[in-house]
Amino acid sequence: MNSNMNPGSRLLSTGLRRVLSSRVVAAMTTPHGVDRYLELFDPTWSLDQVRAEVTAVRRQTADSVTLSLRPNGNWQGFRAGQFLRLTVEIDGVRRTRCYSPANSVHAADGQIELTAKAHAGGFVSKFLRDAVRPGMVVSLSQAEGSFALPQQRPERVLLISGGSGITPVMAMLRTLCDEGHSGRITFLHYCRAASDLIYAEELAAIAARCPNVELLRAFADTEQCGELQGLFHREQLAAAVPDYAEAATFLCGPPGMMQAVRKVWAEDGIEQRLHLEHFTASPTPASEVIGSAGGEVRFARSERLAANNGATLLDQAEAAGLRPEAGCRMGICHTCTCRKLSGQVRDTRNGRLSDGGEADIQICVSVPVGTVTLDI
Ligand code: FES
Repeated sequence: MNSNMNPGSRLLSTGLRRVLSSRVVAAMTTPHGVDRYLELFDPTWSLDQVRAEVTAVRRQTADSVTLSLRPNGNWQGFRAGQFLRLTVEIDGVRRTRCYSPANSVHAADGQIELTAKAHAGGFVSKFLRDAVRPGMVVSLSQAEGSFALPQQRPERVLLISGGSGITPVMAMLRTLCDEGHSGRITFLHYCRAASDLIYAEELAAIAARCPNVELLRAFADTEQCGELQGLFHREQLAAAVPDYAEAATFLCGPPGMMQAVRKVWAEDGIEQRLHLEHFTASPTPASEVIGSAGGEVRFARSERLAANNGATLLDQAEAAGLRPEAGCRMGICHTCTCRKLSGQVRDTRNGRLSDGGEADIQICVSVPVGTVTLDI
């Protein structure tokens, strides 16, 4: 257990936790549960849920926010690159999104650092940027995902990121630096301009301090002076990182950039060296979606009905006034999985069409093709 975790959690980690977990206490606290009573003493206390207090808020760029979070004793830690689900209550509704911790797994203070970029339509990220203050308490999941540094650290590492996709690879870089990794690391990051580069100062400091770390900043704005200019392309990569084929490569960024990188690795037959994390869904082309709109979306349990407008089933459920559980909204966390009773849906990540029978589907990445009935 980390010695820097929330002090209330240390208290709960003693015999008290065993007592509180007993059937007798569970019966006494029904229907609200033990946690509702613990919260009265300290909002971060919980028998089994991860909660964290916001200890610092800083803004590195105009549209991003970086939060330091002190988790309670239920947090089990993470592997550099993994993500977690953060839940906040906004206007009485619990909203969940996925973020990758950017801190080193060896951070001495035991805190989790999350950076969110507020983008158009980013309801939660805007809330985090504008409304979150030190002292607030948020809920977290345990860390998830297979995008992570392997236990056996690769000798040669290439980290490629774009925009806010920098966070998981920042965790990798910080972790490797803390471990005194001696192999070569290239950190290749794409963003619009220098003013958009999150962690700019720290990256420059690491590159200056560690002779084995090479920092390559690529700015789309050609007026700006980075080591590279423009968007990712094969010739640029080959010139800047000639030994890319030998490196264990970790990639996280917007869909277009990721597609371009994957294409190069696929053409070279070295896909097994490329590890990737999507932080936004790669949507099916609009023409396909709009072309398949029609019929109705039926929400069987709540007895509601909506004309199918071709949007994802999650969006259509919310537009119909329902509040299905959702997390990442990009097909990663499975929080939104629910039962399709009938009808065909298209997976927006790959364009695949389901059959018309019963199945569990992720409604954040499924659009109905004709009439669909959900058990919501
Ligand atoms: S909300 Fe995460 S998979 Fe749908």
